[in-house]
Amino acid sequence: MSVVTEAALADLKAAYDRDGWCELPYRFTEQAVTLLKERVAANSRERRPEVVYEKDSDTVRGIHGCHAFDEVFAALVRHPQLVALAEELTGGPVYVYQFKVNLKQAREGAAWPWHQDYAFWSEEDGMPSPNAVNIALSLDDIHEGNGPLVVVPGSHRLGLLDLPEKGPEGDSDWQQHVAADLAYTVSEERAEKLAAESGRVLITGEAGAVHAFHPSIVHSSSSNISADRRALLLITYNAVDNAPENPTRPEFLVTRDSTRITPATDGRLGLQSLPTA
Ligand code: SIN
Ligand code: MN
Repeated sequence: MSVVTEAALADLKAAYDRDGWCELPYRFTEQAVTLLKERVAANSRERRPEVVYEKDSDTVRGIHGCHAFDEVFAALVRHPQLVALAEELTGGPVYVYQFKVNLKQAREGAAWPWHQDYAFWSEEDGMPSPNAVNIALSLDDIHEGNGPLVVVPGSHRLGLLDLPEKGPEGDSDWQQHVAADLAYTVSEERAEKLAAESGRVLITGEAGAVHAFHPSIVHSSSSNISADRRALLLITYNAVDNAPENPTRPEFLVTRDSTRITPATDGRLGLQSLPTA
């Protein structure tokens, strides 16, 4: 297995601090991706609240919190390189705040409007600061046509944008945090203006690729108009000292146990270096 050096981690941190996202110089092996996809398929067939469907459809949109009930995903979140990366980017010990797989099925997967993840975690859960990180693992090849994540570089430094007037914490329906009709969005007008100024990056690449992105970065993804599914696995690690005090959303959206995660190697979840350009 490739091991990311201290120097490589420092480079990733510099890119992440500057741009709000970075791409790792390694990817999960084909064998690892196959295993993860098998588990996604098995979990998607279960009827349980963690499985979310596209609007008025029986098409699975996403599955949530499966690291808590599936031993392969439980092993994945302990992956020493993922934990090391999350600790480098947040600056200290971390735990898993959230885990999901967004499936974006071929020709059916709906868009995610422009938004910032931290708006949900701050407004709904009371997360004190955005000192958390999303690690995104592509389970399918991701290209321009199957709804890649699109980020606006540098937008994580702007704070929260376009927050609605709100009532008491935790008063919106959690379904609106996982559906195409999101509760907290950045207006199309503002996002397009930001993108015109700072550019937009499409997070594309082969299955097995790993990216990190900041909780406050402005991002979206379009509908999947292609014949290729686009499954994206997202692990959010939060700094142990940044745990919200009294979250009310279901545990499969907000982990309650904020004890530092213990890294552990699992031979089934290998990494390999990306070919150098
Ligand atoms: C997506 O799956 O394209 C969106 C993920 C996210 O907004 O966190
Ligand atoms: Mn998001």
